[in-house]
Amino acid sequence: MYRFQLRPVIYELKTVDEFVAQFNISADDYVFTEKFLYEKYLKGKLDCQFLFQDDYGLGEPSDIIIDKIIHDIYGKEIKRIIGIGGGTILDISKLLCIKDASSTEEIFEDQIPLVRDKELILIPTTCGTGCEVTCVSVVDITKRKTKIGKRIEENFADAAVLIEELLDSIPEKVFTYSSVDALIHAMEIFVAPTGNPYNDVFCKSAIEIILSRYKVLVEDGLDKRFDFIGEFLRASTFAGIALSNTVCGAVHAFAMHFGSVHHVPHGESNARFLSGVFNKYAEKSPTGKLLELAEIINKTLDIDTDIRGSFHALEDLVSKLIPKKKLREYGVKEEDIESYVDKVIESQQRLLINNFVPLTKEDLIDIYRVVY
Ligand SMILES: [Fe+2]
Repeated sequence: MYRFQLRPVIYELKTVDEFVAQFNISADDYVFTEKFLYEKYLKGKLDCQFLFQDDYGLGEPSDIIIDKIIHDIYGKEIKRIIGIGGGTILDISKLLCIKDASSTEEIFEDQIPLVRDKELILIPTTCGTGCEVTCVSVVDITKRKTKIGKRIEENFADAAVLIEELLDSIPEKVFTYSSVDALIHAMEIFVAPTGNPYNDVFCKSAIEIILSRYKVLVEDGLDKRFDFIGEFLRASTFAGIALSNTVCGAVHAFAMHFGSVHHVPHGESNARFLSGVFNKYAEKSPTGKLLELAEIINKTLDIDTDIRGSFHALEDLVSKLIPKKKLREYGVKEEDIESYVDKVIESQQRLLINNFVPLTKEDLIDIYRVVY
């Protein structure tokens, strides 16, 4: 038995003007975004209320920041929340739609009914998180000292709108870290035990688009990324559709804890664990969906090699766009590795149960040592 759902309505548009023409924005709409996006793309075009993330602190979303935003909009008449930004903004936008919520804790601990009383439109400005088509919000829960993903079925957007113009000056690092996040979503879900033939279609296509374009970018330079921005947006959304139906695995489990402790953005955290996890899978069980994934990599990169060679070729390709950086360079200490792994096991079971093959504590420590 397979279960697969497709929500929300997806729009692909070229410009903000096209969005304005189609969505009838009005004074009871709240746009949640960043000031530089407002200045560059939105100013004078949208007749509505604005909330700026900059006014609440930058970076990955913590419950403390979200509580301040919830406090500021509590009790206001709001018809639609329109999130325009990276994963942080889109994830927070989802939480702002919950009826009568007065804190993140109330939502994450199910202390109130998780129902929505506002419409939700999500517009990504990176090409990686896929948040625009998922109902999950990932938040750094300060009390627990880790990031936690909360799935709220009510929080699928009414519309996910992909607007190429909003990525017309995406910085190199934002582009590479967000697109590798999308690649990892697609790879982790493709090999996951909860995968299914519907997910496979979206994952395979996302992997093919991203790797084939990475190959061009390695040869021609990252300035070429703007030629393919629509394709990367679409690939990210494809991976997001799969992500909306299941969860990732060990790469994300490691990254959630590491990113929270060392304040490293999500895509960058994931990039650090990608090869370690997949090389371990190839060592433990070079069969089944992992073999299929290796064949997709070989075909897309036009190489002929065995499963280990495939993942090494992938590692080599990605490292040309995202230079390798050891975890010790972020301040991880060797003596911390075991306690970090214990914390990952304790807090990220939601993800670890979706590993391609079960990984023991010793396997997780091995992976950490390789990337340390
Ligand atoms: Fe991710």
